[in-house]
Amino acid sequence: MPELKVLQRAFLAIFLLLILITFAFPTERAASSNAQGFGALRVASAAEMTPAERGFHNLTKRPYGPVLLTPQMLEKLWTVWDPAWKAKVDPNNPQQIRQLIFERYGLSEAPYPNDGVPMQFVATERGWVINCMICHGGRLPGSGKSMVGMPNTELDLGTLYQDAQKLFGINASGDDQGLTRGRTNAFVFSLKLLQRRNEDLSPRSTPVDMGNYKNHDLDAIPWWHLKKKKLLYSDGAVSGDFVRPIMQFTLIEPSGEKIRSWESEFSDVLEYLRSIEPPKYPWPIDARLAAEGKKVFEQTCAQCHGTYGPDGKYPNRVVPLEIVGTNSLRLTGLTREFRRYFNRSWLGAKSRAEEEPKGYIAPPLDGIWASAPYFHNGSVPTVYGVLTESARPKYFRRIGAPKEYDTRDLGIKVEILSGPATPDMPPEARRRIIDTTLPGLGNQGHPFGFPLSEKEKRQVIEYLKTL
Ligand code: HEC
Ligand code: HEC
Repeated sequence: MPELKVLQRAFLAIFLLLILITFAFPTERAASSNAQGFGALRVASAAEMTPAERGFHNLTKRPYGPVLLTPQMLEKLWTVWDPAWKAKVDPNNPQQIRQLIFERYGLSEAPYPNDGVPMQFVATERGWVINCMICHGGRLPGSGKSMVGMPNTELDLGTLYQDAQKLFGINASGDDQGLTRGRTNAFVFSLKLLQRRNEDLSPRSTPVDMGNYKNHDLDAIPWWHLKKKKLLYSDGAVSGDFVRPIMQFTLIEPSGEKIRSWESEFSDVLEYLRSIEPPKYPWPIDARLAAEGKKVFEQTCAQCHGTYGPDGKYPNRVVPLEIVGTNSLRLTGLTREFRRYFNRSWLGAKSRAEEEPKGYIAPPLDGIWASAPYFHNGSVPTVYGVLTESARPKYFRRIGAPKEYDTRDLGIKVEILSGPATPDMPPEARRRIIDTTLPGLGNQGHPFGFPLSEKEKRQVIEYLKTL
């Protein structure tokens, strides 16, 4: 398995990088976890805060892990860019370089005070610490306003890591973080982090055998659905208490003891996540068409996706793969060994991960207009495409963002391409092209809307805008 070897090496490089940074800035780490720093501030006002408010504070202000980008790195990052990007840089204009950094990696302004740092990072004295919003914070279509819990469908984490590694002189592919822009390899990333931990999360030198896992790109799930969920993740595999499972990403912090001490902070984070409301559709809606769509929806979609409004019910239904028919790699690429070890570890002690999940959960559809592209792998750009097989492009590239929105088909505007990326393109440009023939990115399945007439599809789409 030479492929696997490369991946392992790449991961090792990242791990080394994190350790390197961690040791390079010991004072920062001490400060970031010092009860007299953020902690004291938080305790002072904690009494007046609700759990959800505390959760928001933790999520946006507490650094859970080492610094990823330092001010020195930020200044120099552009020097390792490919020629086409370098040509855009005016070295004497830091503001412009900042804009280009946002654009290249898919970062966005924080919708709360954050010392000028994008929402995807927590600002500390020594640099930027990556936070959950790297994948779970993005810009809403239309207004372009940043929102916590909006999937970051503009993110290119692979290029960010690759560039950071180049600055350090480490050569790695960046593919571990995701093969394409707008998606991440989040679960293999967690698998590889957990592999280096004992069951109590203390670090270990020999990795746990996690079987034959495979990289698979995933679309982050909007957080505003969480209040309805009894089953976590796109395979609905995790049930029970969600606090520890949502801490998986904190394994970038080297100390297991420290991670375990964050449990109550994450209990508040979960409360906050459950308080997030779906964003309202910002353009006009044809109320009569939507009312007709509600009827079609209740007949053809509600048994899986639930009903909406004050008496709405969400069934938390996992649909077997043979029935939903979407890409299977999310189910098979994450191994049974991982799921088993997760259950045995501290992370899984209060919840249960299904060892052999059978399919995908039919997600709630409130605010679905905002979270394009669709399916667990983000392989279909519009809702019309979800309902129509022939409207699912094989190769595409997202056009601009977030101004370019398709209000008719409900989703992001894309440029349909006649073929895949070519090897002569710089990796960053290649990663913008979605090739649905690649493993994990297939756009097949979910045939439930295919039999609807064109008129009924338009009605359903109009109804979905109201949710
Ligand atoms: C590298 C990207 C990435 C990071 C960082 C990340 N997530 Fe996620 N998250 C994802 C992806 C992708 C999914 C969907 C996985 C799937 O397909 O099941 C997800 C799913 C979730 C879900 C499940 C939602 C649902 O309805 O089932 C929650 C909750 C969540 N993440 C919380 C967090 C929290 C809290 C953090 C920070 C500690 C975090 N995530 C960090 C990528 C990320
Ligand atoms: C038999 C159950 C079932 C029925 C019926 C069904 N769906 Fe789905 N739907 C699913 C499942 C399961 C998924 C998740 C598939 C995946 O991510 O791979 C899904 C995904 C979706 C998504 C993408 C959600 C996202 O966040 O990416 C949309 C939109 C959607 N369905 C709309 C509809 C509409 C509209 C109808 C009715 C015409 C419908 N579905 C009927 C099970 C169903």
